[in-house]
Amino acid sequence: MKPEVTAFFDEATFTISYVVRDPQGSACAVVDSVLDFDYASGRTDTRSADAIIKYVQDNNLTVEWLLESHVHADHLSAAPYIQERVGGKIGIGDNITVVQDTFGKVFNEGTKFQRDGSQFDKLFKEGDSFHIGQMRGDVLHTPGHTPACLTYVIGDAAFVGDTLFMPDFGTARCDFPGGSSETLFNSIQKILSLPDETRIFVGHDYKAPGRDFYAWETTVGEQKRFNIHVGEGKPMEDFVRMRDERDATLAMPRLIIPSLQVNMRAGHMPEPDENGDVFLKVPVNKI
Ligand SMILES: [Fe+2]
Repeated sequence: MKPEVTAFFDEATFTISYVVRDPQGSACAVVDSVLDFDYASGRTDTRSADAIIKYVQDNNLTVEWLLESHVHADHLSAAPYIQERVGGKIGIGDNITVVQDTFGKVFNEGTKFQRDGSQFDKLFKEGDSFHIGQMRGDVLHTPGHTPACLTYVIGDAAFVGDTLFMPDFGTARCDFPGGSSETLFNSIQKILSLPDETRIFVGHDYKAPGRDFYAWETTVGEQKRFNIHVGEGKPMEDFVRMRDERDATLAMPRLIIPSLQVNMRAGHMPEPDENGDVFLKVPVNKI
């Protein structure tokens, strides 16, 4: 089965959101949507999400799923906003509970913040399957970047989130709490064991040395041959050394603080203060 895949690129956060559509019907899923956020003013904007909603409506699609590959640290999820307008169930990996526990502590969330994943409609685990119309989706647990990362394999298309990036860019960082380069290496082997012709859709693209345009689609075969971090059967030790050294030089994503607080709540803002306004916290010297 070959789903129709439409990409939506957000240049502010280098995120690619996808609409994955059953070619034989009107069912679709939205993968990793973006709620625009201006940190300086604390204002949200729905331009990116509205483009997806417009596409769904223009094509008379039925949104069955709003799939999150993980708790993103670089953009806010628009899943609840999209859900309110066009429906769909919000799904994420069941290890979200680990992420909620970690960041529940970092942000000193009180007992009102549930750490059982109940903010999401569906918690997926390794080996689970689901349907988008007649099309089957399979869930691979691919941790390493975060403990809850999933890859959704829908027909011949794999949505790998932040695991593999384009072959000339390599792989995702592993230095967030609960991340591990060794674990990511093993997760990537799982993705690379899919058939060579499997289409891979990555969660981010930042261009790459020698490539001055954005790209987000490749294949398992191309990754195996050309990925600069894991291609040609590079051994785990080399990958781990390279990844850990490189991660030590990377700055935190611009939106990590708001993103985590919102995304660990399935894209919902924290409860309003007594005065009715919503606030996000900035923990000092914690992240
Ligand atoms: Fe990420």
